[in-house]
Amino acid sequence: MTQIFAHRGYSALYPENTMLAFKEAEKAGADGLELDVQMTIDGEIVVIHDEKIDRTTNGTGLIKNLSLKELRQYNAGYKFKNLPEKTPIPTLEEVFKWMQTNQIVCNIELKNGVYRYEGMEEKVIALIEKYQLAKRIIVSSFNHYSLVHFYRLAPHIETAPLLSESIYMPWIYAKAIGAKGIHPKYYRGMEDIYAQSLANGFAVRPYTVNKEAAIKRLFAMNCTAIITDDPKAAVKIKQMAQ
Ligand code: G3P
Ligand code: CA
Repeated sequence: MTQIFAHRGYSALYPENTMLAFKEAEKAGADGLELDVQMTIDGEIVVIHDEKIDRTTNGTGLIKNLSLKELRQYNAGYKFKNLPEKTPIPTLEEVFKWMQTNQIVCNIELKNGVYRYEGMEEKVIALIEKYQLAKRIIVSSFNHYSLVHFYRLAPHIETAPLLSESIYMPWIYAKAIGAKGIHPKYYRGMEDIYAQSLANGFAVRPYTVNKEAAIKRLFAMNCTAIITDDPKAAVKIKQMAQ
């Protein structure tokens, strides 16, 4: 049965990549989370999409130039005026601690395409091992060199390349880099490629799928998962289909 992964948490209604968005995604019935990680100047793995904090917080600057202490003073929920409390940028460790209280799966996207963040893979692996989460994690990235490095260090943790464009026989490519699946940008009409990837034993988790018709098509073909901003809506569609 197709799993529902909440893109940056329940980002349709809550501030993206925050503990609030993750907790609400779990409450909404999501099977998994998708989140993005960057690295601070003091080597902390933090959960945020952009290289800069400007778009999603009330602060400014590059994460690679800021310490965790500096980052934590800003509010990642500042655009949501109805929120009673400050919503800080979470650390990956904070997410993993919370994951000890539930069964949710987590797709970690390594955002190391712009800045390399030397040592990021090692730190993420150490955290996964510390919290014994290897079986509940899928690591993805647009930086496929990083994914190969990750695979060589920890072949027991699932990896999946992010594919923004269609490539020929992606399952062969996935196999070549040690990945167990692919995370393609969703395009209508690519279902045949997804079906062939599935038939060859590879997981397929397209992003970011919000339209009802597309969600229905992917459910109908028993795609591994969809990555969506609105897990509640997807859960409802899934229930109706049963
Ligand atoms: O994981 C898929 C998707 O999150 C990749 O795009 O920009 O939302 O991180 P972006
Ligand atoms: Ca992402």
